[in-house]
Amino acid sequence: MSNQGASIFVRGTGSYAPERVLTNEEISQIVDTNDEWIVSRTGIRERRIAADDEATSDMAVKAARKAMEMAKVSAEDIDAVIIATLTPDMLFPSTACLVQRELGLGPIPAFDVDAACSGFMYGLEVGKGILMGNPHYKNILLVGSEKLSSIIDWEDRATCVLFGDGAGAVVLSRDETVGGGELLGVKLGADGKSAPLIHMPGGGSRIPASHDSIDARQHFLKMNGREVFKLAVRAMVKGANDILEQCEVEMKDVGCVIPHQANIRIIESVASHLKLPMDLFPNNVQNYGNTSAASVPLALDEAIRSGRISDGDYVLMIAFGAGLTWGSTLMKWNSPK
Ligand code: ACO
Repeated sequence: MSNQGASIFVRGTGSYAPERVLTNEEISQIVDTNDEWIVSRTGIRERRIAADDEATSDMAVKAARKAMEMAKVSAEDIDAVIIATLTPDMLFPSTACLVQRELGLGPIPAFDVDAACSGFMYGLEVGKGILMGNPHYKNILLVGSEKLSSIIDWEDRATCVLFGDGAGAVVLSRDETVGGGELLGVKLGADGKSAPLIHMPGGGSRIPASHDSIDARQHFLKMNGREVFKLAVRAMVKGANDILEQCEVEMKDVGCVIPHQANIRIIESVASHLKLPMDLFPNNVQNYGNTSAASVPLALDEAIRSGRISDGDYVLMIAFGAGLTWGSTLMKWNSPK
């Protein structure tokens, strides 16, 4: 096994999805689309939409509390907080600082990671690196949280049907006596040449908010869906193969695959390339759509709590997103003591 140094564990998981359900039927009253098109092209039947006064940090806090409860840790046990998001409450301060304040955590490091839909994977690698590199850190709170409804163009039928809001959290720990899901490896990558395929042009330093930028609808997500589809399948298949090779685990021994929940056709294509049956993939894209950085931890939490993941299972997580970015993780699950 190639995991060198201290072992790092997922000691607890938690998730949160806003109450408001937005169905395909309702979207078809806003733009020219229909349930049949959305379900057959994406697998999505409904998604959750955060309340007007509910921001990314509010959802992150709710998911984090559940993960901390499962991990049996309190605020003073958390040594750093990382939030993976592309929809922060505001450009600064970081959403992590707002979560730190709300949870009453100590004066610990708090920062955001932005790798779009791969953000949770990037957060795992950063959190794991901190825990392995410095024994002062024992528990790190990592949350993927997104309010994508705040950057969706509700006049663009090609994108508005795809996304939803939610949060998923984990507590990472170096405490072997408690155990949990051992992180055997993380593999990350990016290709900035593909940046224009999914982006939000406005609101940063290149195109600050102005009347013109708003009139040109530049503060909304733009995507070339067809191109992203192809690259997504390629990146996730490569990510899966690479991490298994790195960890010296065979595909046939994987007990559960948690892919980024973007589109059931992408997931089916990945399964087919990897020659894995679809029943290894506990998907929830039909209920939530694409929740970007929240997608993998939300699905992971549901799979663990529903008993879909059993002790001893190798759990493969794979994601891709704007950047383009991608990441894969192999975890060996054992219930925390
Ligand atoms: N309802 C009805 N028709 C639609 C809709 C809709 N909601 N959206 C697009 N169409 C039409 C198009 O206009 C097009 O019509 P035309 O042929 O007359 O021009 C037709 O449907 C087919 O469009 P395609 O783009 O070819 O449809 P495709 O089968 O590729 O499905 C989709 C589109 C679902 C977006 C797919 O390409 C996809 O899932 N891509 C990946 C997107 C993704 O996963 N992004 C995740 C990363 S996001 C991040 O990191 C934040």
